[in-house]
Amino acid sequence: MSSKRHILTAVAWPYTNGPRHIGHVSGFGVPSDVFSRFQRMRGHDVLMVSGTDEHGTPIQVLADQEGVSARELADRYNRIIVEDLVALGLSYDLFTRTTTGNHYAVVQELFRGLYDNGYIFARTTKGAVSPSTGRTLPDRYIEGTCPICGYDGARGDQCDNCGNQLDPVDLIGPRSRINGEAPDFVDTEHFMLDLPAFAEVLGTWMRSKSGQWRPNVLKFSLNLLDDLQPRAISRDLDWGVPIPLEGWSDQANKRLYVWFDAVIGYLSAAVEWARRTGDPEAWRRYWQGGDAESYYFMGKDNIVFHSEIWPAMLLGYNGEGDRGGDAGALGRMNLPTEVVSSEFLTMEGRKFSSSRRVVIYVRDFLERYSADPLRYYIIAAGPETQDTDFTWAEFVRRNNDELVAAWGNLVNRSLNMAAKNFGEIPEAGELTDEDRAVLEGSRAAFAAVAEHLESSRFKAGLQEAMRTVAEANKYISDQAPWALKKTDPERMKTVLHVALQLVDDAKTLLTPFLPESSNKVHAMLGGTGQWSGMPRIDTARDSIGGEEGTSEYPVITGDYGDDEAVWESRPIRPGTPLSKPEPLFAKLDQSVVDEELARLEAEAG
Ligand code: MF3
Ligand code: ZN
Repeated sequence: MSSKRHILTAVAWPYTNGPRHIGHVSGFGVPSDVFSRFQRMRGHDVLMVSGTDEHGTPIQVLADQEGVSARELADRYNRIIVEDLVALGLSYDLFTRTTTGNHYAVVQELFRGLYDNGYIFARTTKGAVSPSTGRTLPDRYIEGTCPICGYDGARGDQCDNCGNQLDPVDLIGPRSRINGEAPDFVDTEHFMLDLPAFAEVLGTWMRSKSGQWRPNVLKFSLNLLDDLQPRAISRDLDWGVPIPLEGWSDQANKRLYVWFDAVIGYLSAAVEWARRTGDPEAWRRYWQGGDAESYYFMGKDNIVFHSEIWPAMLLGYNGEGDRGGDAGALGRMNLPTEVVSSEFLTMEGRKFSSSRRVVIYVRDFLERYSADPLRYYIIAAGPETQDTDFTWAEFVRRNNDELVAAWGNLVNRSLNMAAKNFGEIPEAGELTDEDRAVLEGSRAAFAAVAEHLESSRFKAGLQEAMRTVAEANKYISDQAPWALKKTDPERMKTVLHVALQLVDDAKTLLTPFLPESSNKVHAMLGGTGQWSGMPRIDTARDSIGGEEGTSEYPVITGDYGDDEAVWESRPIRPGTPLSKPEPLFAKLDQSVVDEELARLEAEAG
């Protein structure tokens, strides 16, 4: 195996403006976990970080509507999101939040580094104000027609149809989403990030990724370079990180723009993680130097922030844009190795929408079904490189045909026959050509699946792993070990030994995708210890939301380095006691489809 790598898995930070739905976790969640688990199994050092994204206008507006403080709203959804991500088995080394004192300090350090190098400057711009209340209207709450593609539902900060960043003043026919009125635009002073100063170095960097990034992500990113404008990084708002400059930090209504602070979370979470482990400098291994790599996972509406704005911020902090400069106090930081973006998941032909209640929340899903079938669906039929539609019919079909009938059945019948006839893993006699061929195919799958996962082709990786399951099932049917009991019991032992080796291999190959089921198969095959580590919730302490004093908050973490899972075929040990297996997956009745569709209709109203 090649030498040990340091891999940062940087997972997009969910907003605390509601629970997350299955569309969200199909973008940032499951793919990043598959990747991290796989890389850990290969023996690499992985740091998987994220947290809740809690600042900004949407959260403030929602809190106002509910009559609670932004802090209270953020606390509520932070906890719900933490619980849901743990229930999905996502193996974060640290999942924290953007409201911690640590995060504020790191954000302000990045701001100062950029400012000192001349990449941030103040400018008078036009801000939207509600004529009826006199209050600042948040960008996201202004809607209108996109001046670029003509889409009518464009938001003040971004058009979800063409993906371009916008300013509210650019919209044709702008209106408030809160009460429909047309906003006034008034002068206001803000800080701008000088994106044009990075045009050249961003271009060189992006072009160096050709053939490496998913083509749609690269193409979208390169297109952004055609129109780089200075970008506002502060807002008229009191819920956010204060601007660390004299004359600004005490202005209650000027805060850093939520996206400026959120992307810095990848760094601040690594710093927090290092401190928690008792080695405060450990974050540097994932951010600095030639052997540190970073992979960023998200849905496609996030690409611009990860392939353009965040890299520009890092370059500016490093002193590597047109204006030069020196690296800030934390030292020079690496740019993303890859921006891994998914496309969108729709839902029974419609766009997910919490407000229109066209939605399946992760929590509701997991109350009725297990995590692994959802993880399986997301990778096998999710929006890896094109928009895809979630349907209950397809979920039931995949669960029943692929998990229950193929993988679950392979485990069940092999273990059952071995347990019933021998009570242990039987010894193999002499192998036939068929035995050797099927074992060889299974061993070869490790390199093939690895190649896919290494290039973030998760769907292809899963298909390849499931191919070994199909071949193992075919092998058992062809060899018909049940018929050998009377005629050739020694041969029966060999066939079941081979079958169990195939089960063990498939369990390993499927671990990144289906960690919970693989842990069960590990135990059923007589394995001891924890096979693939699962996340847990811990309690941390820091100041929260800029308030005085410290509070407790939940974080996701886990001891993934201590688990047994390794990416290789390991010989099973004859003589290991076996007991009757438990079913791995539950078969779903066809009536589930109608029930779920009825539920959806009832909720959408
Ligand atoms: N909160 C954003 C969203 O849900 C994602 C932020 S990713 C970040 O779309 F890390 F850059 F903040
Ligand atoms: Zn548009």
